[in-house]
Amino acid sequence: MQTQEFIRRRRHLMQMMGEGSVAILPASPVRMRNRDVEYHYRQDSDFYYLTGFPEPEAVAVFAPGRKNGEYILFCRERNPEAEIWNGKRAGQEGAVEIYRADDSFPIDDIDDILPGILEGTEKVYYTMGIHADFDKRLIGWVNRLRDQSRAGMVTPGEFIALDHILHDMRLIKSSREISVMRKAAKISARAHRRAMRACRPGKKEYELEAELLHEFMTHGARSSAYASIVGSGANGCVLHYIDNLATMKDGDLVLIDAGAELDYYASDITRTFPVNGRYSRAQRALYEVVLAAQLAAIEQVQPGKHWNDPHEAAVRTLTEGLVELGILKGRVTTLVKNEKYKKFFMHRTGHWLGMDVHDVGDYKVEGEWRLLEPGMVLTVEPGIYIPAGSKGVAKKWWDTGIRIEDDVLVTKSGHEVLSIDAPKDPEEIEALMA
Ligand code: GLY
Ligand code: MN
Ligand code: MN
Repeated sequence: MQTQEFIRRRRHLMQMMGEGSVAILPASPVRMRNRDVEYHYRQDSDFYYLTGFPEPEAVAVFAPGRKNGEYILFCRERNPEAEIWNGKRAGQEGAVEIYRADDSFPIDDIDDILPGILEGTEKVYYTMGIHADFDKRLIGWVNRLRDQSRAGMVTPGEFIALDHILHDMRLIKSSREISVMRKAAKISARAHRRAMRACRPGKKEYELEAELLHEFMTHGARSSAYASIVGSGANGCVLHYIDNLATMKDGDLVLIDAGAELDYYASDITRTFPVNGRYSRAQRALYEVVLAAQLAAIEQVQPGKHWNDPHEAAVRTLTEGLVELGILKGRVTTLVKNEKYKKFFMHRTGHWLGMDVHDVGDYKVEGEWRLLEPGMVLTVEPGIYIPAGSKGVAKKWWDTGIRIEDDVLVTKSGHEVLSIDAPKDPEEIEALMA
């Protein structure tokens, strides 16, 4: 993402905050995997969205109208000794020159400096409840100031949730963000195609996971956006199955839910295909129902439609299909009203997508489903899951889990399926696997 984009975001945020206020955002902490092994560091999405700063141990402060600088970045000092081990740090100079902070201080000095910045401000924008330690420190600084307020000093009287305005910004993607998300989806689509081609009975699920990761990394996506799901047979019915350990069997389906993260933006694609390259009759029949539901839902992604329209379309089409196959019995309208489909489709049809896979942004505004607007990106992912032993369901349907998931951008005139390159037409999948 270009520097200009971060500058534009900070300006926008500060305009909405107004003078007399300060926003405070801490970076993600480093987390330990085991003993002295760290998880690969990933910056907090809100923090990165505004700063583009990838290092831990940092705090960004925005103070619109402040004479000595509106954007202050606290970060680690340069340290030649530490940098031999872990690479270069930006330091205070880099914070200003590369990351365009107006001013920068060592993170170790924050106790002395931040209270001074808070002096004279009325509102503090901050998201409570994410970093418990930092919450306490911030409240400590504010209380210390309040103790001094008898001396006539203006001190913050109000804490306002920063995530509220920030997440509204993040919900509408700029053209630059969309172009990154399009690339991330393209890489993921290639990965799904690669996994389809590599699939054979007798292989382990994790061998397909390896194919996915290979394709992600080869194209510059250094991580998946979430743990890849590769579930064959009965495992396809376990919604968050990530063991990926089983041997894939002839005659089973395999469900892959995997997406690359590129330049801090997620993609999220699910495809379900036959381990041996040919859908059985029963598998194909169920697959067609899920596909019809997914297409009906995608059709609803248009400006002016509301958040729940795609879900309602998917539910209706799925229920119709399940009735036609004899898996549900009764009138479609009644079955929908009584939520009988939930036994086989127990999750929602999608979620916002962006820097986080389950991205930020409200789904309702003042109690009403949010209207879709150009620049929003969402997933559309209906599914049918019929585990073995499902009562009242013929055995031929058992151990079948099918989900089809695409990433869809709302455009001025309708929508664009960002993950279009991942085949979902059953004929096309069979041809690719042949
Ligand atoms: N992969 C997570 C989801 O589909 O929501
Ligand atoms: Mn998914
Ligand atoms: Mn999803």
